[in-house]
Order: sequence, then structure tokens, then C-alpha cells
Amino acid sequence: MTSVVSGRPTRSRPWRVAAAARLAGDLRLPADKSVAHRALLFNAMGTGRAEVTLYRPGDDVISTVSALRTLGAIEAVTDDGEGITRVTIHGGGSETGAKLPGDGGETLDCGNSGTAMRLFAGALAGRPATATLIGDASLSGRPMERIAEPLRLVGGGIATRDGHAPLVIAGQRPLRAMRHDLSVASAQVLGCLTLAGLAADGTTTISVPGPTRDHTERMLAWLGVPIRRDGLTTSVVGPVGFAARHMSAPGDISSAAAWLVAGALHPTALITLEGVGLNPSRIGIIRVLQEMGADIEVKPDAEPSAGPEPIGRISVRGGRRLTAIRIAGDRVADIIDELPLIGVAMAAADGQSELRDAGELRVKESDRIALVVANLVAIGAQAEELPDGWRVARGMARDARIDTHGDHRIAMAFAIGASAGVAGTVEIDDPDCAAVSYPTFWSDLEKLTR
Ligand code: S3P
Repeated sequence: MTSVVSGRPTRSRPWRVAAAARLAGDLRLPADKSVAHRALLFNAMGTGRAEVTLYRPGDDVISTVSALRTLGAIEAVTDDGEGITRVTIHGGGSETGAKLPGDGGETLDCGNSGTAMRLFAGALAGRPATATLIGDASLSGRPMERIAEPLRLVGGGIATRDGHAPLVIAGQRPLRAMRHDLSVASAQVLGCLTLAGLAADGTTTISVPGPTRDHTERMLAWLGVPIRRDGLTTSVVGPVGFAARHMSAPGDISSAAAWLVAGALHPTALITLEGVGLNPSRIGIIRVLQEMGADIEVKPDAEPSAGPEPIGRISVRGGRRLTAIRIAGDRVADIIDELPLIGVAMAAADGQSELRDAGELRVKESDRIALVVANLVAIGAQAEELPDGWRVARGMARDARIDTHGDHRIAMAFAIGASAGVAGTVEIDDPDCAAVSYPTFWSDLEKLTR
């Protein structure tokens, strides 16, 4: 049963999901949150006005809109009643320097979003004013020294509480241009330091130890910023300004992943997803499922999207047997957010699958290694926790209650497992948390199974 609380449909708790007799139809996904955060924030650092168009943005993206409103960057937000939100932004930058607007002293609530907090920290480090970044309980437990330490080196004052939020930022201008050698391959940390680099005097160079998604580099280049990415090294020359530019975010491949896994596991599924982001640093989920034996087709759109990202249509057809897979090393990066879903797919495959080198999963919205394994065991799969991953094989599907710890990706992964028959009937303890990235997840599931 659905009810409406403050405009958003909410579900009774726990929410039950059972195997679906049918799983078919076409869907359009919510705006990619990695791209949406950047489209909003970067425009707010530009000069002039631009409109960012987002289809059914999730709560994380709304946190960024609210924070920008607090800074005075938002002129208007409209909703056309068909799911399209248009955000008109007025940037605080000048021709010689990108900068967020606002007089200082603001408290910005990043909600559940690590990307928002880390990117805002980098942008605020180069605004000569103070600001405080706060978040919910999950975000307040996530590591922030990984950005605070390098930001202090470039001169952006930043205090953490034992390495965690709240972050108190005392920005400065210009910041120091320098070389950073990061010990973690994180697009959030790289993005944070790149934004600080826009306010630095000279060349900022950032090297990462492994591949990361490249949305920051693509979008800044598209905005005219002198930025280069060569392999694992990004460099940007500051101080630099740019004009705000209209753009729209593609459908979120990480949300599409739910239906790709559902479609691959369900015996008769046929699902088509339109307008999905096909950035090469994000589509590892397609390669993984194809390697496991899934029948997936990708058709890039001939017309470019209104923005720097490639988009296209993806369809998946069920009925194939999946085989086990071993995933390790560099290929973890472009499936990092899809690993809970991949864990569920592993529990349907022939043979034993293994995931390694995914220790970063322990510091996402929850400890996703512990939680995926515990919930896989609960639904009857054979699953073993490893320090940096897991081993998973098929078991005897059974009914279970899914403990999500409020983590959207855990809620959706196990709902997908149940609807595709990998589990018995599951009870999701906190169905509403799906709205963090996918506000219409439950109604889309109903639509496909109807
Ligand atoms: C993101 C980067 C990834 C990802 C997160 C979004 C981004 O995190 O898990 O959901 O938009 O930059 P890290 O690169 O920090 O691992």
C-alpha cells in the first residue's frame, strides 16, 4: 500500500517483494546523480545563468539543490508534472575565477551524499568565506580526512570532527597549486581537489592509484576549463573562470543496473531502458553481466546529449544461465556502486564467484561487504565475507527480512533478487531509502511486473 507524505509516495514498513511472474516493459531512469551534482555545482561556480534539466532526481541531488539555494545560487526550480525538474542557477564566479556565491557563515546539509560533501568542500576551499558541511548519520560516519588533508596543504582551512563531518571550512583565494598523489582511487577526492585547483595559482596535478569515473574532467572541459586527463593523472590550470551552460543529466546507469540484473536473472524478462548514460568509466556492469552470460544489447544515441556525456538505449532479455565470475583489480572501479546487485547476480550463477580489491565498499553509505554477505546468507545463498570482497555461490532460496541500514543500494539489490526468484519473499526493512538515488524504484518495479 502506498501513502503520500510530504509529496513523495512512501511505503509501509517492512515492504514485501516476491518472485514476479512477469518482468517486462520500457523505463526511463532518474538523473545520474554523479553527473547531476556536478552540473548543479559547477554551474553555480560559473558566470551568468544556466538551466540544468533533471528527470526525477533522487534525494541526494535534491540535497545539492538545497545547499546551493542556501548559498543563493538557485533562481528557480520547476517541475513539469511529468517528472522533469528544471533548476535555474546563477553562478557566483567571474571571468577570471570560478567561485560559489554567498557571504559566508552558511550551514549546508549534504544529507546522505558523500559526493555532495566532498565536492562542496573542494569548491568552498577557494571561496574566501566560512561554511559548515553537515550530513545524516551515515554520511557523518564516512572518512573525510582523505579530502581534508590535501585541502589543508593547498591552504583551504578545513576542520573535521575526528576525521568526519561536520566539516568547518575557511576558504581562501588563491589556493596553492601543487601535485597530489592520492592513495585512494576516488572520483570524489579527485573532483574535490580539481575544484580547489580552479582557485589555485598555477597547475594542480592529481594522480590516482587506479581508474576513476571521469565526469569532473569531461564536464569542466565542456565548460571550457583547461583540464587534461592522461591515464591516471589529471591536471588543471588556475585561476580560471567559465560561463554557466545549460545541460541535462543522462539516466543513471547505476539505477539502470537494477533492471539489467533483474532482466538477466528472470527467465522471461524483456526490459528496455532509454536515455541511459554510457560513459565508458561507468558501464562495467554491462561487461560483467555479459561475461556471466546475460543477453544485453546497447545502442548509443546518434544525437549527442545536452551535455558532455554519451547516452543510449540498453535492452536486456532473460532466460540465459549465468556462470560464476571473478572480479578483482582495476575493474572494480567502474562497478563500485553496482556491487550489491552483482552480489545478488552471483547468487544465481553456476559455480562460485569471487570479488576482491573492493575494500572501499566498507566506507560507502553502509559497510556494503558485511551487509551484502549477511543478506545473501539470509536469502539462502552461500556467501563468505573477505576483508576486501566476498565469495558467493547459489544456495536454497528462502524468505528473509532484509536489513538495509538505510542504504538505498542494499534495499534495491535484494528487492531485485526477490522479484527475479533468487530469494523467496523478502521484507525490506526500509523501502523509502531507495529514494536516495531512485525515487520511483518501487513504482517502476510494479510497472514492470504488472
Ligand atoms: C562518485 C564516485 C564514487 C561512487 C559514488 C559517486 C562520484 O565514489 O561510489 O557513488 O560521483 O564521484 P568514489 O570515487 O569516492 O569511490
